[in-house]
Amino acid sequence: MSEKILVTTALPYANGSIHLGHVLEGIQADIWVRYNRAIGNKCYFFCADDTHGTPIMLAAKKANKTPDEYIKKVHDEHYKDLTSFGISYDLYYTTNSEENKKLAEEIYLRLKEKGNISDRNIQQTYCEHDKMFLPDRFIKGTCPKCGAKDQYGDSCEVCGATYSPTDLLDPHCAICGNVPVLKESKHLFFRLQDYQAPLENWLSTPGRLQEGAKKKLLEWFETGLQEWDISRDGPYFGFEIPGEVNKFFYVWLDAPVGYMAASRKFFETNEEEFNSIWRKGEGQIVHFIGKDILYFHGLFWPAMLMGAEFTTPNKLYVHGFMTVGGEKMSKSRGTFVNASTFAKHLDTEHFRFYMAARLGSGMDDVDISFDDYLSRVNSDLIGNLVNIVSRVSTSILDKLDRRLGTLQDEGKSLFDKLLASEENIRKNYEERNYHRVMREVASLGDQVNKYVNDNAPWVLVKNDPEKARKVVTTALNCAKILFLYLYPVIPKTTQKVINFLGIEGVPDFSIISQKIENIQLPAYEHITQRANEKGIQDMIEETKNEYDKAQLLAGKNNPSIASNQPDQTGKSESKGNSTDTVTNDGYISIEDLSKVELRVGHIKDANHVEGADKLLQVTVDLGEHGSKNVFAGIKSAYKPEDLVGLKVVVVANLKPRKMKFGMSEAMLLASGNGETLSLFIPHRDANPGDLLK
Ligand code: MSP
Ligand code: ZN
Repeated sequence: MSEKILVTTALPYANGSIHLGHVLEGIQADIWVRYNRAIGNKCYFFCADDTHGTPIMLAAKKANKTPDEYIKKVHDEHYKDLTSFGISYDLYYTTNSEENKKLAEEIYLRLKEKGNISDRNIQQTYCEHDKMFLPDRFIKGTCPKCGAKDQYGDSCEVCGATYSPTDLLDPHCAICGNVPVLKESKHLFFRLQDYQAPLENWLSTPGRLQEGAKKKLLEWFETGLQEWDISRDGPYFGFEIPGEVNKFFYVWLDAPVGYMAASRKFFETNEEEFNSIWRKGEGQIVHFIGKDILYFHGLFWPAMLMGAEFTTPNKLYVHGFMTVGGEKMSKSRGTFVNASTFAKHLDTEHFRFYMAARLGSGMDDVDISFDDYLSRVNSDLIGNLVNIVSRVSTSILDKLDRRLGTLQDEGKSLFDKLLASEENIRKNYEERNYHRVMREVASLGDQVNKYVNDNAPWVLVKNDPEKARKVVTTALNCAKILFLYLYPVIPKTTQKVINFLGIEGVPDFSIISQKIENIQLPAYEHITQRANEKGIQDMIEETKNEYDKAQLLAGKNNPSIASNQPDQTGKSESKGNSTDTVTNDGYISIEDLSKVELRVGHIKDANHVEGADKLLQVTVDLGEHGSKNVFAGIKSAYKPEDLVGLKVVVVANLKPRKMKFGMSEAMLLASGNGETLSLFIPHRDANPGDLLK
């Protein structure tokens, strides 16, 4: 039975760029959405920008724009950044819309009608100069606990104390620097405590929440639910509260309504579908969110929906925060990477592959590392899965007139074995245990590669071509299954493989067991490029530079140390040693080994070599050891433009050799061959010329 599911991701604030943490959430949700679509469910996917509130109002002012202009520009950037990672929204909307205004008002008025809204006067910090109430983050002063200067109004970044802005010593307005005053005004409150019992019931429904999330929410119940301040005084960028003067909905009131508003817009001409989901409860509502906003989604939001008689969320899928190398993402270290910076230097589809390997169903933080990224993409995606296709699809298939045969015997049983994993893979997708999917597919891929190795079709093709055809047919049928399994993770790559194998249309799980037999295949084209270290180096560099620039603009004069470009020294004479290093028994002694000078080289220039099939001409800088010209047999895996800037391992004291195309003065170390050839890469912080020991 096909299900109807409405999926959302949290709405990014419109005053910052999309970074890899947002992308984590987008990819986690997108894999789930694509999986559901692939098994035949009707799955809608919505997101939007969260556009209201004081920080956005002030950011617009600073940018010399009206809030409307400002959020429009940010919206376009956010949409572009997120979709560049293949995230397949049905609509990416905005909270500053007519639909959202109407729905927020409708919800508020119903709550009011039911007596869930109260009001009273409260005192708050106000700036006479800017004529506005100041949110906590816009008041700065000295921490009352430890005396640290220049701390925010809600917490101290030095000692970690939390307090209220009125406790700050020496408080001042973060916008103009004047001393704020206390001023009274009326605020409206949503009486959350009126929903204590239905909320408790809601969150103990099996399957609605992860255990950890449920536990966290129940802690808040213990202290008793409090009423929630839902109004802000003007000037405020947001929706005015009906029936009040100069009062606006607090941004967190209309933000989650943005989920409904996006779907309302999407179902513009099909209000029935909107009502079916949001009013009649036909279908599932699923929110993907980070753990920092659980409070809003697990208490306020369902209570608002209950009060206003809308469907409450069926599932909250809460994830942890992204860390890099075990630490919080950091701008100064270059690990707080913007989505656009990543996409400029690396392949976003590879990032999906990598993220899937890191994602599970829990709320723990999700640690990534760029070294791990490189090795997983290059060994698990390219070296294992892509390799199954590439190794049989060039010269071997050419010798077989590019025709597949039929699946039989041994091949058929391997094919069936792969099919037997489908149930488990589905279960792990459904439960968001994507790392398990990745592990299972990798292990199946290993088995297929082993089968190809054992049968050596490159040998068979010479004396038993029909047997070779059987092996190739098996390998490609197996690859088809494996890439379809990974369709939710790497949709573009899967599409390419599937098309190569003669299957049209958007991939889905219904064709997994279909065999491809007795057809002729087109010429093989590269499926995907290797992930390269150079891209990582450049991405980190650019992130650090963005940070330095921002620091300078903010008037701070301690930007991170500028990256260390190597000193440029002139070309040095090559000083090749010509003693034989190999002794008679085939071993070399440790002394012999010490004669080999392995150094870090920085590729300065790389070019195609006219008339050479395998070679590229490369200029490597060895720091104070000069620079060398090398002809390297790496064309099968690298493009010259990807090489420039890359750090590699160089045999620096190889005797210069005269080759057909010129002198080669050193050698680059690499392993593998064809598409899976891979240069040895030193640590990205290594300096050109460093000796490797
Ligand atoms: N605007 C609110 C959400 C309103 S939803 C009705 C907001 N915006 S946000 O831009 O700060 O965060 C959007 C989502 O990204 C949240 O789910 C948040 O948890 C997630 N992440 C933000 N930084 C993150 C990481 N470093 N790692 C993982 N997810 C993170 O909150
Ligand atoms: Zn001020």
